[in-house]
Amino acid sequence: MGEFRDREHIKSYAIRATRMSAAQRRAFDELYGQYCVPASSLPVDPHSLFKSEDHPVYLEIGFGMGDATAEMAAAQPDVNFLGIEVHRPGVGKLLAAIERGGLSNIRIIHDDALLVVEQMIPPDCLDGVLLFFPDPWPKKRHHKRRIVRDSFVELLVARLRPGGFLYSVTDWEEYAEWMMDVFDRARGIENPFEGYAPAQSWRPGTAFEKKGCAAGREIRELYFRRA
Ligand SMILES: C[S@@+](CC[C@H](N)C(=O)[O-])C[C@H]1O[C@@H](n2cnc3c(N)ncnc32)[C@H](O)[C@@H]1O
Repeated sequence: MGEFRDREHIKSYAIRATRMSAAQRRAFDELYGQYCVPASSLPVDPHSLFKSEDHPVYLEIGFGMGDATAEMAAAQPDVNFLGIEVHRPGVGKLLAAIERGGLSNIRIIHDDALLVVEQMIPPDCLDGVLLFFPDPWPKKRHHKRRIVRDSFVELLVARLRPGGFLYSVTDWEEYAEWMMDVFDRARGIENPFEGYAPAQSWRPGTAFEKKGCAAGREIRELYFRRA
């Protein structure tokens, strides 16, 4: 049995109490069946979830309200985006954006990414993994909740195809350093840059990035490739 399989693992999120708007609820109720993939303990080839099965698949973990996901998917129709998020209003909001934009290259899994990656994503199949502004859990006693931890990064690396990338961005300096240490010691990925990476031209700004910038925090990017 894998580390995250029994749902007893240390959670990397706290469910926020935010209520769903009427539009998010309608989208969730009416569009879930069309664009969401029910969480399962069986592996599924992510490419098979999309109309264009031969396009690369980027897995986005913790897409929040999904604004950046919708923007990337509209700008890159030749890439398929598989988003994972536990926050229900965010899933509703992204579903509404999919409908509004006619975005056929997004699928969503509404569940805990630690479980989904372990159980549903087969090895060697992802072209990219996106982790934009993961919860920094700044208090020392909460560091164990950080999603970037050795065991999860080891799983992510195994799910990437050779040459695939792991791209993480944060406004929290100490978490950036923490992630750099975890990525540096992970077997099977390498940093093509000296230290932090330049912002990738295709990465849109995100809601949490705006908050970080407004508070005067610097954005740091980590971009590693599977060897
Ligand atoms: C700080 S927010 C960033 C949201 C978005 N990426 C942005 O930049 O605006 C982190 C998000 O990750 C989600 N999250 C954290 N751990 C998760 C997990 N294990 N599985 C799925 N989503 C998770 C949270 O619900 C939250 O929406």
